[in-house]
Amino acid sequence: MKQSKVFAHRGASQYAPENTLEAFRLAMEQGAEGIELDVHLSADGELVVIHDETLERTTNGTGLVKEHTLAQLQALRADNHMEGFEAAHIPTLRQVLELVRPGDMQVNIELKTGILWYEGIEKKTLELVKELGMQDRVVYSSFNHYSIEEVRRLDPTAETAYLFSDVIFEVEKYAARRGVKGLHPALWHVKMADFLTDYLQSGLAVRVWTVNRPEDMRLLMERGMDAVITNDPALALQVRAELEE
Ligand code: G3P
Ligand code: MG
Repeated sequence: MKQSKVFAHRGASQYAPENTLEAFRLAMEQGAEGIELDVHLSADGELVVIHDETLERTTNGTGLVKEHTLAQLQALRADNHMEGFEAAHIPTLRQVLELVRPGDMQVNIELKTGILWYEGIEKKTLELVKELGMQDRVVYSSFNHYSIEEVRRLDPTAETAYLFSDVIFEVEKYAARRGVKGLHPALWHVKMADFLTDYLQSGLAVRVWTVNRPEDMRLLMERGMDAVITNDPALALQVRAELEE
């Protein structure tokens, strides 16, 4: 049985505020093989790691991320209402990459261009990854497949994946035709019908999100998923260890 990797969704976000250095550090400590994170651009063009386009849900700020400068964003609390994390703030992509750089963790950078358009986000992200020498450890994904096209145009060697929630007709063939090497489907749709057989037979790397229940982790790991993307890496690693006993 192929061993599935464990990717921490927004970091170990079950235990620490999502998309903060605290959550990514914990994912490393728990032994996850990868992290997933979400990238936007600030008003002054800095790459920042946060999930929503707006600040309300996870910080004490209000309004759009893109209407705030980096300094304004980093002055906010990003504790996501979790006790004991009052010092957590919105990190830059650079801060997160520098944190995980010493190890061998993979990084799934999700370009959050599915709702708002961030001009030039692909180029900035690729340049930063290159500057830090982490090209071999990064996979780029986006719900906006134009962003993936742009990443591939700028660097045909970059590892990319299509992110999708709804079913896309023969997505595995569409990805293969475009030179995209990974599929990141939502858990609900791979459970609804057997799409996984086609995905897996295509030879593309299949990483399913967001897998938080042990029975789902087990099911996917037994099918030989490339990775499960989970809020609870500790649990996923425990489930995997039990399967291997
Ligand atoms: O990249 C997988 C997953 O994070 C996609 O959905 O909304 O959690 O960013 P979302
Ligand atoms: Mg995401």
